[in-house]
Amino acid sequence: MTTRYEKVQADLKANPKTWLITGVAGFIGSNLLETLLQLDQTVIGLDNFATGHQHNLVEVQGEVTREQWTRFTFIEGDIRNLEDCKKAVTGADYVLHQAALGSVPRSIEDPITTNQANIDGFLNMLVAAKDEGVESFTYAASSSTYGDHPGLPKVEDKIGKPLSPYAVTKYVNELYADVFARTYGFNTIGLRYFNVFGKRQDPNGAYAAVIPKWTAAMIKGEEVFINGDGETSRDFCFIENVVQINLLAATAQDDAKSQVYNVALGDRTTLNTLFDALKVALNECGVQYGKDPAYRDFRAGDVRHSQADINKSKERLGYEPAYRIYDGIGKAMPWYVSDLT
Ligand SMILES: NC(=O)c1ccc[n+]([C@@H]2O[C@H](COP(=O)([O-])OP(=O)(O)OC[C@H]3O[C@@H](n4cnc5c(N)ncnc54)[C@H](O)[C@@H]3O)[C@@H](O)[C@H]2O)c1
Repeated sequence: MTTRYEKVQADLKANPKTWLITGVAGFIGSNLLETLLQLDQTVIGLDNFATGHQHNLVEVQGEVTREQWTRFTFIEGDIRNLEDCKKAVTGADYVLHQAALGSVPRSIEDPITTNQANIDGFLNMLVAAKDEGVESFTYAASSSTYGDHPGLPKVEDKIGKPLSPYAVTKYVNELYADVFARTYGFNTIGLRYFNVFGKRQDPNGAYAAVIPKWTAAMIKGEEVFINGDGETSRDFCFIENVVQINLLAATAQDDAKSQVYNVALGDRTTLNTLFDALKVALNECGVQYGKDPAYRDFRAGDVRHSQADINKSKERLGYEPAYRIYDGIGKAMPWYVSDLT
């Protein structure tokens, strides 16, 4: 049976559209770019390289044909500047808004800069996209919006209080998106990403995510630090599943529009289990790591457990995550090994 994702991809190939990806030089944005170009779409990309990299774009160029690459226009600009947003969205059918400053600890250290990118920048993009009359505005929301709500698994309409400035910004995004849907009839779809991982996720810097950070440390033979006792758990989601749901969301119809969706697997993996899985996957790539992890204090603002209920995403969008966590780690690891050694 044909899945909705297969149908959407075939329809887009037959009838190409113009997409704007904000944050295109980042991890998720550059993976979206790669898939859309491979589907012969026209793509405009906006980024200010705050945390993204030119080398991500160069890598995508190497993954597509010369002709596909000519359909990509890059604009170096800032979502905090309304004029940049207006310029970038001109002529777009769909917007995939990924640009933001990620990381809970970054937002605790510098809430003002996070707020400017994640709330002011978000509102600029929302206004520019609405005024342009795009068909849909799909944006990166976050599982951090569940905050202190104790329920597991997390269901979209049951949230708690935010636990960090970052979580506040992502929740405000949802509030604005919902108000734009109600007030202007503008189709906004929020994708609450849980912990996403895969190729091109930045292993460097103080705010790196756990999988690339640990993988890089293991490859270099350095110590791996676990915050807390290692029994903290997350619903890790491979990037290909995230790309899939972005395309499903952008092209959603009827009651699937103007909603918020969980993006994960519906599984829960502890940090201790993750540590072992990364060690095994690296071993299979020829990298041995013999050290035990070093445990240190729990990190401020972190939730203890996170696991998504993905029934709404499955039922309304036809989301069928094709990669479980170990499939994803197996696919991502050779990229890290070749990139970091
Ligand atoms: N990776 C995850 O696990 C995860 C989880 C939940 C939510 N998210 C959200 O997904 C989105 C993408 O995250 P990512 O992991 O790819 O991070 P990333 O840092 O790799 O990508 C973000 C991109 O946005 C760009 N950017 C930041 N501020 C900008 C500005 N003012 N103007 C223009 N561009 C700007 C950065 O340069 C970067 O290229 C973010 O909105 C993030 O909050 C990610």
